[in-house]
Amino acid sequence: MLQLRDAEGPTTVIRRADYAAPAYWIDTVNLTFDLDPLKTRVLNKMTLRRNPDVAAQCLKLDGEELNLARVLVNGQGASFKMEGKQLVLDNLPADGTFELEIFTTCAPVKNTSLTGLYVSNDSFFTQCEAEGFRRITYFLDRPDVMASYTVTLRADKRKYPVLLSNGNLVASGALAGVGNEGRHFATWVDPHKKPSYLFALVAGQLVCREQRITSRGGKDHLLQVYVRPGDMDKTEHAMNSLMASVVWDEARFGLPLDLERFMIVATSDFNMGAMENKGLNIFNTKYVLANQATATDADYSNIESVVGHEYFHNWTGNRITCRDWFQLSLKEGLTVFRDQEFSMDLCADASARAVKRIEDVRVLRTAQFPEDAGPMAHPVRPDSYIEINNFYTVTIYEKGAEVVRMMQTLVASSNDPMGREGFAKGMTLYFARHDGQAVTCDDFAQAIADANPDSALARLLPQFKRWYSQAGTPRLQATGHYDAAARSYTLNFSQSCAATPGQSDKEPFVIPVNLGLVSASGAALLMQVQDSAAPSGDSHLFVMTQASESITFVNIDEEPVPSILRGFTAPVLLDFDYSDTQLLTLLANDPDPFNRWEAGQRLALRSAIHSIAASADTTGATGLNDAYIEAMRSVLRHPTLDAAFKELVLTLPSETYIAEQLDVVDPQRIHAVREAMRAQLATALAEDWQWAFEAHKDNGAYRPDALSAGRRALAGMALSQLCLAARDNADSVWPGKTYQRFKDAGNMTDRANALSALLSGGHALATPALARFHSQFKNEELVLDKWFAMQAGACDRGGQVLPAVRQLMAHPDFQLRNPNRARSVIFSYCNANPGAFHRTDGAGYQFWSERVIELDSINPQVAARLARALDRWKKLAEPYRSAARDAIGRVAGRSDLSNDVREVISRALAD
Ligand code: TRP
Ligand code: ZN
Repeated sequence: MLQLRDAEGPTTVIRRADYAAPAYWIDTVNLTFDLDPLKTRVLNKMTLRRNPDVAAQCLKLDGEELNLARVLVNGQGASFKMEGKQLVLDNLPADGTFELEIFTTCAPVKNTSLTGLYVSNDSFFTQCEAEGFRRITYFLDRPDVMASYTVTLRADKRKYPVLLSNGNLVASGALAGVGNEGRHFATWVDPHKKPSYLFALVAGQLVCREQRITSRGGKDHLLQVYVRPGDMDKTEHAMNSLMASVVWDEARFGLPLDLERFMIVATSDFNMGAMENKGLNIFNTKYVLANQATATDADYSNIESVVGHEYFHNWTGNRITCRDWFQLSLKEGLTVFRDQEFSMDLCADASARAVKRIEDVRVLRTAQFPEDAGPMAHPVRPDSYIEINNFYTVTIYEKGAEVVRMMQTLVASSNDPMGREGFAKGMTLYFARHDGQAVTCDDFAQAIADANPDSALARLLPQFKRWYSQAGTPRLQATGHYDAAARSYTLNFSQSCAATPGQSDKEPFVIPVNLGLVSASGAALLMQVQDSAAPSGDSHLFVMTQASESITFVNIDEEPVPSILRGFTAPVLLDFDYSDTQLLTLLANDPDPFNRWEAGQRLALRSAIHSIAASADTTGATGLNDAYIEAMRSVLRHPTLDAAFKELVLTLPSETYIAEQLDVVDPQRIHAVREAMRAQLATALAEDWQWAFEAHKDNGAYRPDALSAGRRALAGMALSQLCLAARDNADSVWPGKTYQRFKDAGNMTDRANALSALLSGGHALATPALARFHSQFKNEELVLDKWFAMQAGACDRGGQVLPAVRQLMAHPDFQLRNPNRARSVIFSYCNANPGAFHRTDGAGYQFWSERVIELDSINPQVAARLARALDRWKKLAEPYRSAARDAIGRVAGRSDLSNDVREVISRALAD
């Protein structure tokens, strides 16, 4: 067994199979905080009760970085001992019910890990998920212990005028007595029981935007968005997103807001995106603050998703929570699915919905598929972990959402072809059964299946649940055979799944495959499965369950082009030996927009892989072929396709995605090939890009809707391409125009797009533009993050990016302790700029190892995320591979690593 050490003794692997119910329940918690940055006092009075269902045993409370001053049982001094970090109480009252009072202090201002209670910009915040509450007080810090909380905050009124916690404000005012001059208090009662990870408090100088709403049921609610004074003009979009979320959850799932008051608070120091604390969501400022001058369309859309996501957790996560952290995807996969559906339902038309789906799949394939193929691969419901914070992954979130989406697909019926109604029925049963409980992924899947007894899901449930237990991305191989005599077309499928750490032989998955057939001239064909009485329409859901299987369609007059996995109905890799002609047919005609986009991606990928394989000295035989370029021209000039979709089709597969298709990865070769392809498109379509820019550059008053955002995206792409072509032609017209557009832009999207066009085109005007951008936005933290990120993510032409990154870290505005700023420089370089990071001299990896070590002593969670940048080192070609191995070894050699980083690094080196 892997054993790690930290300062307080060995840490071992935690296993799902070892789950045991708690020995005690905590019914009520009464917390009193005397808030002080250096020494905050926490008085914790709890009522406990022995769990009658488990054998009598001592009480072991979790605690970290606490100074313990007093322990009283029923008001009397009690004997206790420390076992590692745990506070252990024995000889408890015989009837098993008692009051426990614990008094501790902590030092929030010294807490740089941003978990537990910490200070940011002179205000107090908490982050308790997953195991931060134990840094606030001793507790049974596990999600299946749900208690009622009463919280009193006491603090200096001038420094901390706003005092917030979960639930309802029941009392507040000045504090009386000696020593309390200038101090005030507020008492909050949360009417809902909750696990400790949903506890939150906030104290500081904050202002808020308020909105009163009446729900469908006639109840009144107060919505508030709290920000620092000066940020009020950036709160409208978050509030609108929150109101839309409330409406959507009632309309789609019948789930109302169960609180009188719902608060969102923004902080600029935050490890993740946001946190769903009951009634008091705490957000990274990046996912709250927006106005047209400072935020891009992508920011607006992320805010909508994250506000929705945290709000939807109120039911999926808070009302029904996780029994243990192995069940994390119970709340995260489901809630990502819900936020994806929310954003889709807010789209005005089918094309915008498809764009959202393509964007979500792109995230899955560029981030989750590599995770599933690397050393950190784990099932959606993991079997073990060392540090739970390392398991807030794209597998738990994004693949987990795909698993929920497949359930919806598998409860579809003829009068509910998308499965939406069946799935909503399943959700209703899930709440009827489990509201107020801490449950498992099995409980969820069972409820969805039981509510749809005639569905494929109900029939296949035990096998379906392999999606929870088996890691790795299944590979689906398909071949097609047309029988002219029989006028039939047969698709043969076989599935397999590569070994992942700890799992070698895998059982077949249930794979829902949405299919269509398109004629060579592009018409959608009627699909009639052999032996069925009638055609099923122009698409068909094939549910694969065996290692290999086939399906035959009849009454087919010519060899069709199969459109397989429409809408990406399952998170699998699909192999089909399409000819270029077939892909061009799908690109031009597939009624399914996802597969239309996918056909273009396959064509581009094919060219990229050929070019990479071709010897380095080829003379123009590689790159994009004319047919592809003409197809791209048609898409760009298409009279009815919308701009957002065009932008997606014209975006080449990312370097990371291309790398995943190769067994041995030479990142510089991939970068060079992709850049050459980009340049080729820029020159070959020069006139079309000009047309596209002119046709999409003016969009009237700024609105962040999908339609105008798509137009801005396409105009931005056109500008990038025009600047790139200009570089090759040594022409300065377009860079000049771009600089002008940068200066005159009426919104951040156009401004940032113009700036990055200059940067990615490597044009000299990028330098004055960057300087101007900095001076214009020097007081806007989130815009400065963009300024840093654009430079750290810039296209490398001769190795200049790494020295620039080192210089950025010496910039007076750089702050390693602030996660957003650290990410904007270090992650933008190490994780998002492969062409600059993978240097033949290994200096990028050296930089990475220094930063991992440096960050680990400040913030282990952030350090561990950075540590994952070299997850896929084993695929690298020499000299990268050895250099990466050395850099990982340097990190591994440190004796003082956190468990977080140690787990990631030891997995990377395993075997
Ligand atoms: N539950 C949060 C979410 O929905 C995730 C989160 C926020 C988190 N802060 C965290 C997870 C800190 C681990 C540590 O997405
Ligand atoms: Zn979440």
